[in-house]
Amino acid sequence: MGKDFDLYRPSEEHDMLRETVRSLAEAKIAPFAAAVDEEGRFPQEALDALVAADLHAVHVPETYGGAGADALATVIVIEEVARACCSSSLIPAVNKLGSMPVILSGSEELKHKYLGPLAKGDGMFSYCLSEPDAGSDAAGMKTRAVRDGDYWVLNGVKRWITNAGVSEYYTVMAVTDPEKRSKGISAFVVEKGDEGVSFGAPEKKLGIKGSPTREVYLDNVRIPADRMIGAEGTGFQTAMKTLDHTRVTIAAQAIGVAQGALDYAKGYVKERKQFGKPIADFQGVQFMLADMAMKLEAARQLTYAAAAKSERVDGDLTFFGAAAKCYASDVAMEVTTDAVQLLGGYGYTRDYPVERMMRDAKITQIYEGTNQVQRIVMARNLP
Ligand code: CAA
Repeated sequence: MGKDFDLYRPSEEHDMLRETVRSLAEAKIAPFAAAVDEEGRFPQEALDALVAADLHAVHVPETYGGAGADALATVIVIEEVARACCSSSLIPAVNKLGSMPVILSGSEELKHKYLGPLAKGDGMFSYCLSEPDAGSDAAGMKTRAVRDGDYWVLNGVKRWITNAGVSEYYTVMAVTDPEKRSKGISAFVVEKGDEGVSFGAPEKKLGIKGSPTREVYLDNVRIPADRMIGAEGTGFQTAMKTLDHTRVTIAAQAIGVAQGALDYAKGYVKERKQFGKPIADFQGVQFMLADMAMKLEAARQLTYAAAAKSERVDGDLTFFGAAAKCYASDVAMEVTTDAVQLLGGYGYTRDYPVERMMRDAKITQIYEGTNQVQRIVMARNLP
């Protein structure tokens, strides 16, 4: 256990990275967060600022032109961006999600071809697993890939695809052998410009309104055979291994948005006066803040521990990734809801940021596997 603790304690470099990202997020991302939410538009300012600072995909290994940041550093980037604007934190988070199948299972050629442009900021990555009728039951997907000489031809519909239309590259899981369920699924890289790729209308969502969520249509998309990620039939396993790593990034988002709400509420209660004194002087308010900070810190420690597991080849990441995502997202919902409560009627309006944070927090309990699915995963992988 002692060894594990040392592994996840942030180093001086991690602390410096946090300072850098926090000041960048406060100066260049936070000022647009309310407008991005209100207008439901992509946070281009955030993308530009993150690319300029080389923070949009820090996880890409150095060999392929990236910063080679460890999982904890990636968590810190996502956490600090989410503290300012949860929609914008989907940029580094989904770049990791979409590219992790290539990093984990792709050929050297695929890695060089796609990770370089991602690291340079020339194209983002999205991840296409879910379908209209295959959400929690991901292996029940219908999208087909059929071999045709040196090509694969893909047909189907992928749903809930984060950053669809904005990303250049898509990892698509498709059935190559319908008889074999999860063992008959393979993973591919599809490019936005491939003939037959198109996108549905943006979903009208409760939160993370700045992060486009659209369907991806694959209509006879013919791609070279070397765009398959790993061996035929290993796509589901790659997709699950990817989620082991990236559920940690959803936990990062959750603690970031919760920290944003707690920080705002902490400031507010010192200013807001009722019964002749700041409401921060009331013990009922103090107890709420104490509970919020306590739960958030517990979620943060679990998230950092999961990030440390993410660095190991043979650890218990599957359990830790699911646990961190599940726990941190529940905490994010509680903390952001309490932040709205502390601001009272003001908190319920769009004149203050906490209602946005509460709406944004909700998705962290749903995507990359609902928290009910996380419990299935944890139960099957108890430490
Ligand atoms: N690592 C390696 N292999 C794994 C694995 C893992 N973590 N999890 C499963 N596998 C392997 C299993 O070992 C198994 O192979 P064997 O038969 O050889 O043992 C195979 O994959 C099938 O596994 P299961 O039998 O466990 O599969 P299942 O059909 O019962 O499903 C599930 C399990 C956990 C419910 C899975 O379907 C799941 O995680 N569902 C949720 C899907 C999800 O998270 N979707 C998120 C979409 S992405 C998103 O939301 C992104 C966004 O917008 C930001």
